[in-house]
Amino acid sequence: MTSTLHYFAANEAEALRLGAALGIACAGVAVHRFPDGESLVRVAHSGAAALLYCSLNAPNAKLVEVLLAASALRDSGARRVVLVAPYLGYMRQDHAFAQGEAVSQRVIGGLIAAAFDGLVTVDPHLHRTPRLEDVVPGIVAVNVSAAATIARALADYVSPDTLLIGPDDESRQWVEAVSAPLHLETLIGSKVRLGDRAVQIELPRIERVAGRPVVLIDDLISSGGTLIDCAAQLGKAGAASIAAAATHCLASEADFAAMTANGIRPIMATATVPGTASTIPIADALAHAILHHGLG
Ligand code: R5P
Repeated sequence: MTSTLHYFAANEAEALRLGAALGIACAGVAVHRFPDGESLVRVAHSGAAALLYCSLNAPNAKLVEVLLAASALRDSGARRVVLVAPYLGYMRQDHAFAQGEAVSQRVIGGLIAAAFDGLVTVDPHLHRTPRLEDVVPGIVAVNVSAAATIARALADYVSPDTLLIGPDDESRQWVEAVSAPLHLETLIGSKVRLGDRAVQIELPRIERVAGRPVVLIDDLISSGGTLIDCAAQLGKAGAASIAAAATHCLASEADFAAMTANGIRPIMATATVPGTASTIPIADALAHAILHHGLG
């Protein structure tokens, strides 16, 4: 099948990198916003297999637009439409934690499964639903790990005495996957979330950091509260420098500045969402997974 990569303007740079890595034609999706807030979406003529690239950070308007684009792609000749969403929002609410709450992961996963033949994403924040296939039932689900990409990016930055630190047990899988090829020591903390931005973190045997460079590793930087809490403790314990590397950085410019002001430098993330920290290209890892699954 002839493939075409269609992309939304916000993701143009990384989408074009992916198109080049796959060796396929790329076309922008045109979006017009009416004064009343509705969107009109227009796609270019598609090959039989369409890849639609849209990272779903700040997802509310984008979700409507990707559903419209999927429909337009089928109308324009695509027999298979695969969503490439390097960041997949709404994965954290996988359970009704209080009576009356929507289980967002199930709702959004259901919408994607109904509109697309496949989903490719990077390190989705899965917790109680461990398999991406169960989030988007009945379609091809490809979960790309950013760990090897992050490890390669850190190889020139770290020294043999660098300590990789995960703020909580959820981060352990990324810390271990990044540390293995770099042969670095690790330290995993435990975290209690007190609110959207407030956390309480315990870092066991923190005295090990004295005089050593440290890199905080996590799948997601959102408000930056987790990293700032860690950095405060690491600074007091005498860390020589504090950097951070994550799969996704969703932090606003103000939150990014607050992390920097709290001594976290540099902050590196893969380019799953556009932003100041998103300096590590992810296109090669995406292309490899897409080709491996016969979706290119
Ligand atoms: C949570 O379990 C994630 O792995 C991140 O640690 C969390 O989302 C970071 O959020 P924030 O930057 O707002 O502290």
